[in-house]
Amino acid sequence: MNSASPESLLEALQWRYATKKFDAARPIPAPVWSALERSLVLTPSSYGLQPWKFLVVTDPGAKRSLVPHSWNQTQPVECSHYVVFAARRTVDEAYIDRWVALMTSERGLPPNALDGYRNMMVGGVAKGMQGSRVFEWATCQCYIALGQFMASAAVLGIDACPMEGIVPARYDEILGLAGGDYGTVVACAAGYRASDDRNATLKKVRFPAADVVTTI
Ligand SMILES: Cc1cc2nc3c(=O)[nH]c(=O)nc-3n(C[C@H](O)[C@H](O)[C@H](O)COP(=O)(O)O)c2cc1C
Repeated sequence: MNSASPESLLEALQWRYATKKFDAARPIPAPVWSALERSLVLTPSSYGLQPWKFLVVTDPGAKRSLVPHSWNQTQPVECSHYVVFAARRTVDEAYIDRWVALMTSERGLPPNALDGYRNMMVGGVAKGMQGSRVFEWATCQCYIALGQFMASAAVLGIDACPMEGIVPARYDEILGLAGGDYGTVVACAAGYRASDDRNATLKKVRFPAADVVTTI
């Protein structure tokens, strides 16, 4: 593995900002997008259960239809790729069994080798989380994917804007999620900043490290 230097990591994280205005004429090249898509798939999750779907919206009409349900923010339509993070509403034993079967075959394990792990997941998630608790837990996992996606974008020189200013129920209707296994949580626009995006030059402001980091 070629490690990034501390300087190059910080340079990328300092360079990134929540992009308000994208250059609508500049799409992300396919190989770059492919790596970003892979960063979504590679996101770690609790028990490895991956309780999410990532809907990548590139169709101009679909992007336009999301704007009124995004507090009229223009990022969905001006960006290159608009990712909607949707969380699973339920996790049942069948879902867990599908995951266990995949791990068993991919790692060449004997049948039943993961029985203990399976039962732990069934107890902890399928039976252990009541009501909306699964969706809340899956929502947390989606935010891990969002963070990984934004950091990956920064390292690749791709601009992004995380978007919580959306109406999840309307997104669900437009994207065909309503009544299904997944519900919209958050979104992220990705592409290239417009040359006149005023936010690009704003000073990055954070509480001092001493206020938010305690080394014990
Ligand atoms: C989960 C999340 C949701 C956000 N939602 C929006 C949004 O809907 N619209 C927007 O313009 N910025 C949004 N932001 C951007 C934040 O305002 C921004 O990240 C923060 O002010 C720090 O600035 P920086 O990202 O430019 O360093 C969101 C950020 C996060 C992490």
